[in-house]
Amino acid sequence: MSAASVTVRVPAKVNVQLGVGAARPDGFHDLANVFLAVGLYDEVTVAPADELRVTCSGPDAAQVPLDATNLAARAALALAERYGRDPAVHLHIAKDIPVAGGMAGGSADGAAALVACDALWGTHASREELLEICAELGSDVPFSLVGGAALGVGRGERLTVLETGGTFHWVFAMAERGLSTPAVFREFDRLAAGRDIPEPVASADLLEALAKGDPQALAAAVSNDLQPAALSLFPELADTLEAGRGAGALAALVSGSGPTTAFLTRDAETAEKVAATLRTSGTCRVVRRAAGPVAGATVV
Ligand code: C5P
Repeated sequence: MSAASVTVRVPAKVNVQLGVGAARPDGFHDLANVFLAVGLYDEVTVAPADELRVTCSGPDAAQVPLDATNLAARAALALAERYGRDPAVHLHIAKDIPVAGGMAGGSADGAAALVACDALWGTHASREELLEICAELGSDVPFSLVGGAALGVGRGERLTVLETGGTFHWVFAMAERGLSTPAVFREFDRLAAGRDIPEPVASADLLEALAKGDPQALAAAVSNDLQPAALSLFPELADTLEAGRGAGALAALVSGSGPTTAFLTRDAETAEKVAATLRTSGTCRVVRRAAGPVAGATVV
């Protein structure tokens, strides 16, 4: 791209806790969502163009919608509208975060495009304004901007930054097909029908484990209330979870709404062993290692 372009690098996330409440009147669910940003990245490059267009490269590029539903395009339009700019830009997404994987890949591209357009146009939006636009784009988008570790409440968009006392080593197994987030929440509602769903709250043990940087304690505290719904729609994920546990992971869970599965390990060496076992297990498509926390959307 020309010199007049801006590139932003943005990480994936894993939910170390995903506490889900009952469906609200607006269809969304109140969450206690503890996010950790991990070192798998998309890069979004923005440059002036004749009209707004989106392109995408990377192994899963064919699955990424390039129309106005793409969160990167929506982010550019939202910022342009707020600041009276011409949204005629070319957004290129170099995609490494799994698509429809429960790792906030689409949300990451939205946050990255927002930061990139802000820099390209010199709009100098405040952090608060950017976070406001992020929240309008989607529940996970504000966290992609902020990165690190954070507790998200409400739809998951109201963030409190969390302290972390060390680096956590993860292995991620990408599944053969994707899962739609709304479908997983609908399955959650179906499975919850007739039951009393308590208000979700962040686990004190989990927050302490994060603050201490203690993987063993974090492994004992991780939870995902969407996991039964994801397993109900995609039962084979149980085999992947079992394979990772058997290989020595401290904890195995579905990442967000899935179907990516996440394995917390003691250290980088164990992560490599767990990754090697998963690669030959025949229970997943691709296996990646990544550590976190890492920074949110950053101009490179
Ligand atoms: O906010 P976002 O567009 O990422 O949400 C995608 C879908 O996930 C929503 O349409 C809704 O079905 C579900 N969702 C939910 N409660 C939340 C966040 C998302 O039900 N707090």
